[in-house]
Amino acid sequence: MNTPSIGIGLLGMGVVGSEVARSLLQQADRLEQQVGRPLALISVLVREVARPRDPAIPPSLMTTSLQDVLGNPGIQVVVEVMGGLRPAYEAIRSALSQGKHVVTANKEVMANHGPELVRLAEDREVNLLYEASVGGGIPIIGPLRKDLLANQVSSIHAIINGTTNYILTRMSHEGASFEATLRQAQELGYAEANPANDVDGTDAAYKLAILSSLAFHSQVTGVDVYREGIAKLTALDFRYAHELGYAIKLLAIARREDSALSLRVHPCLVPEDHLLAKVDGVFNAIEVEGDLVGKVVFHGQGAGPKPTASAVLGDILEAARGIAAGRKPPRGGNLHNGLRILPIEELVTQYYLRVTVTDRAGVLAKITTVLGDLNISIASVIQKASDAASQTAELVIMTHLAKEAHVQEAVRRMARLDVVREVSNVLRVEQRA
Ligand SMILES: NC(=O)c1ccc[n+]([C@@H]2O[C@H](COP(=O)([O-])OP(=O)(O)OC[C@H]3O[C@@H](n4cnc5c(N)ncnc54)[C@H](OP(=O)(O)O)[C@@H]3O)[C@@H](O)[C@H]2O)c1
Repeated sequence: MNTPSIGIGLLGMGVVGSEVARSLLQQADRLEQQVGRPLALISVLVREVARPRDPAIPPSLMTTSLQDVLGNPGIQVVVEVMGGLRPAYEAIRSALSQGKHVVTANKEVMANHGPELVRLAEDREVNLLYEASVGGGIPIIGPLRKDLLANQVSSIHAIINGTTNYILTRMSHEGASFEATLRQAQELGYAEANPANDVDGTDAAYKLAILSSLAFHSQVTGVDVYREGIAKLTALDFRYAHELGYAIKLLAIARREDSALSLRVHPCLVPEDHLLAKVDGVFNAIEVEGDLVGKVVFHGQGAGPKPTASAVLGDILEAARGIAAGRKPPRGGNLHNGLRILPIEELVTQYYLRVTVTDRAGVLAKITTVLGDLNISIASVIQKASDAASQTAELVIMTHLAKEAHVQEAVRRMARLDVVREVSNVLRVEQRA
């Protein structure tokens, strides 16, 4: 008698879905060996069947009806790789409600509805697996769910958006402007036609929310993460940062402070000799610090069809092995900690301030008075070349540890000084990464 197969339904067959479908069809023997039962790709949801697609994937598998996948009793594992919040969220919820296992690569859904969906999956005793939603092919959800579970995690420092890391790497190496580098990234396919979610930090904030829920056992959603994008950075910031011994990276940082969590995504000065400063181009890296393990770093390709399919297929195999063994998935959605989210104003860190001032005596005294009045002590001040035509000079100020609320107030007060033309940029410095 033939071993019964495990039915798979795919929602979406774009960059990631096509690679997953190809592997399910072409690597069927190898995958069967991993599970002990064959995996059968039964149905694939797309928007438009007629679109030209990989000839290896039979058109007879495709449908434009969600119900063909969700309503098919032969499908035990639903793989959501269509992206976006809607209708992906409803599709995942419906699949779980019907007792189907779900694998998803969707950070938007997991960042906004993860805790609720995890609870639903636990109620129905099915898997909800989402390794590909953060860091593409890099294993990070699995390690947080299992290998690092015994740790009290104190912090996460991550580069988890390949598009912005590519742009920052080019700006740093070539001294080019943000706008020119973004255009180049779009031409090369490293940035989307609408790059807003990447550039303004939203994508990284979603991913940090997913990691933080898992790492700190506390409910975190996308809106809990403070975010600033990279569009204000200029070639000058990279030059000055380099002179001071720093790289500039878009970091996603989660830190436990007693019974609260500090969660933020913003461009950051990172010491040049730190591991994260050396993560270049579209690569991602995630550093997790736990009380038992110390610091561990996960590094690799954070996107692309094959790395992402690696994570999706790993999840499919995990779900299928559980089905084959008749095993219930472990309960993993424990959000018992209920940590308070710290407002950004309470952050204490070091700052880099770039201030354009009129080039005359007494300017520095006025600026240091503003900072001193707010308890912000200066670690160093460098006056950069003056511009004779506009009679301005640029000051680069590095502070010692200071409170964000005080720095924001100092920036407002400085902007009102007659000697200050502009507070050109304010960046946080992460020495503790
Ligand atoms: N691309 C990556 O490197 C990467 C990395 C990590 C995670 N992810 C995540 O993986 C997911 C998929 O990304 P992708 O790059 O593969 O996306 P994609 O290339 O845009 O593909 C989306 C697929 O979903 C189908 N689809 C979208 N909306 C639909 C709807 N309303 N009804 C029916 N079908 C619909 C599309 O159908 P048509 O083909 O007919 O248009 C297409 O096949 C996203 O959540 C993304 O964030 C992607």
